[in-house]
Amino acid sequence: MSERQLSGVPRRHPSVVALGLLIGAFALAACAGDDPTNLARVVDGDVPQNSLNPAGPTAAKVDSLFWMVFWIAAVIFVIVSVALLFAVLRFRERKGKPRAVRQVHGNTKLEIAWTIIPAVILAVVAVPTLSTLFEIRRAPAAEDNALQIEVIGHQWWWEFRYPEYGFTTANEMHIPTGRPVYLTLTSADVIHSFWVPRLSGKRDAVPGRLNNILLEADAPGTYIGQCAEFCGLAHADMRQRVFAETEADFEAWALAQATPAAVPTEGAALAGWEVFQTQCTSCHAISGTSATAQLAPNLTHFASRTAFAGATLDNTEDHLRQWLRNPSSLVPMRPELNDLAAGRVLGMPDLGLTEQQITDLIAFLETLE
Ligand code: CUA
Repeated sequence: MSERQLSGVPRRHPSVVALGLLIGAFALAACAGDDPTNLARVVDGDVPQNSLNPAGPTAAKVDSLFWMVFWIAAVIFVIVSVALLFAVLRFRERKGKPRAVRQVHGNTKLEIAWTIIPAVILAVVAVPTLSTLFEIRRAPAAEDNALQIEVIGHQWWWEFRYPEYGFTTANEMHIPTGRPVYLTLTSADVIHSFWVPRLSGKRDAVPGRLNNILLEADAPGTYIGQCAEFCGLAHADMRQRVFAETEADFEAWALAQATPAAVPTEGAALAGWEVFQTQCTSCHAISGTSATAQLAPNLTHFASRTAFAGATLDNTEDHLRQWLRNPSSLVPMRPELNDLAAGRVLGMPDLGLTEQQITDLIAFLETLE
């Protein structure tokens, strides 16, 4: 093919190609979550929140469905690209040839073909998609011995209730390995979406409705998730950590969680408990005490958690101190819109605590193991 013949095809400038490659690289990097400031990376190793790296049978089903759809789409992409390239080259304008082309508008055979083929492809993809969707929501059979957990989305944290054990916790869920976990999801305010990519698909937590999803972990480990439905200011800070443990470790954890808190009787912890009773009990509960409100995370075994504030902050004294000074400095919230009587909470307010009160409160919280 001579230089003259090719002149009708516009050449791609190298910078355009480079830009395309760069965009592609960014798109792929997003799948693996390679941001070094990503908190999840700290606790979840090299590939946090990666649905392409399933860690259990439910997530594996979602993963194989993804690859099936991907390869069908890849084949279609190649066929369409080749056909497009062929049409561009074969029917390009040539010197000495008339510009007018033969019109094929209204070709009935072609119209039928390109209506039926995509319809058949979509129907073929729909069968495994729907069956997988139903499968990961299916109520487990009694012999599966599934663990039941009630999940309640709040702006902006997750509440987890373990009805078989009679306790409530927040932001961190513990599960036994090799055993299905059946979640029943709802929301206390707006629509949230529960998603731990390595363990299961996404499921919305909708106010006034109960949704279900199965998840299961093959091996012990920490699995990170986050709210996957925009739910307001701190949506991006609404995470969850799932700790998969051996059955024995899980049972030990669950029994400890079901034990009521021991109220301190002396020192800074006692002073902190007194501050807690005047400042915190209109929102927070600590089981075994007079604090029973359910508008904010249940703090009964707060010190046993690795994180707080929608699982975005590691549970350290520094974070707690800063949080108690002014929570909105760490997570964007609108506590000035709180209406406790109406059960509406949009974040923890700055309570105007003195440094001494903060120190005492931290001493108290640290006793809640
Ligand atoms: Cu909850 Cu987004």
